[in-house]
Amino acid sequence: MKGPNTHWGNRAMKRESRKKPRDGKVISKAVEPVHDPARAVRLKAGDEKISRSLIEVMEEERRRISRDIHDELGQLATSIKMEVELLSDLGHDKAGLQTVCDSIRKKLDELLDSVSRISFALRPSILDDLGLIPAVESFLEKFQKASGIQCEWECDVRNSEYLPEVRITIYRILQEALTNVTRHAQTSTVKVGLYDEDGKLTLVIEDRGRGFDPFTIDAGRCLGLAGMRERAELAGGKLTVLSGRGFGTKVRMELPIETQREVIR
Ligand SMILES: Nc1ncnc2c1ncn2[C@@H]1O[C@H](COP(=O)(O)OP(=O)(O)O)[C@@H](O)[C@H]1O
Ligand SMILES: [Mg+2]
Repeated sequence: MKGPNTHWGNRAMKRESRKKPRDGKVISKAVEPVHDPARAVRLKAGDEKISRSLIEVMEEERRRISRDIHDELGQLATSIKMEVELLSDLGHDKAGLQTVCDSIRKKLDELLDSVSRISFALRPSILDDLGLIPAVESFLEKFQKASGIQCEWECDVRNSEYLPEVRITIYRILQEALTNVTRHAQTSTVKVGLYDEDGKLTLVIEDRGRGFDPFTIDAGRCLGLAGMRERAELAGGKLTVLSGRGFGTKVRMELPIETQREVIR
């Protein structure tokens, strides 16, 4: 992650830098039309629909994972099985045996890669093994490589030992917000910040891309935005989305935090 405001490995970024006015007027304009699309969605769609959105998002995730298991793991396992059956027909054909064994080995490697990719999508083990910050940094690095969108990362947290619910909520919201940046923003940079203050953890994902008008988007199709907000609320937090056509988009989530250390005490 490049750029003047890159703070990889510098988690103790100066607090004052957050309070500086933003460079240039464009982004402050972006924040002027203070819209909360998730709220607009609620007003348009009604509470019943909203309460189902997180379930629908989760069902969609399950469908995708089930498809991955079927298409990738199922096909590889079937093809390995066929090649193993072929082995017994080859008898003493050493060269033939060698070729089939090489092919089986290659397919087993692919199968293991798929298993780790699918299990990572279900629950990134790095979140539990190394904690929230390394997991976020690793995710941002992968995101940057895959999307070609440059991430500016600011991190100012005193204690990074958060409860599992906080860790997964931050991680999933970040994933969804960055997916939206790749799909909709048409931009080459995004700013991601994580700060803790007064018992709250704040996550900000801000792009200066094409933005959108929260009052004209189709409420029934905004499962991503509604799901993010529900996820935040389930963890006791609050999510707002500020956007305007041509002015970029800012997703901000505040979560109350209890650290592991406090819980142990
Ligand atoms: N970062 C963004 N930049 C531009 N438009 C966005 C952004 N995030 C969301 N949107 C707009 O809000 C709509 C709803 O987003 P979402 O609920 O995540 O649904 P989906 O991504 O499946 O379209 C998107 O279709 C897009 O028009
Ligand atoms: Mg989306």
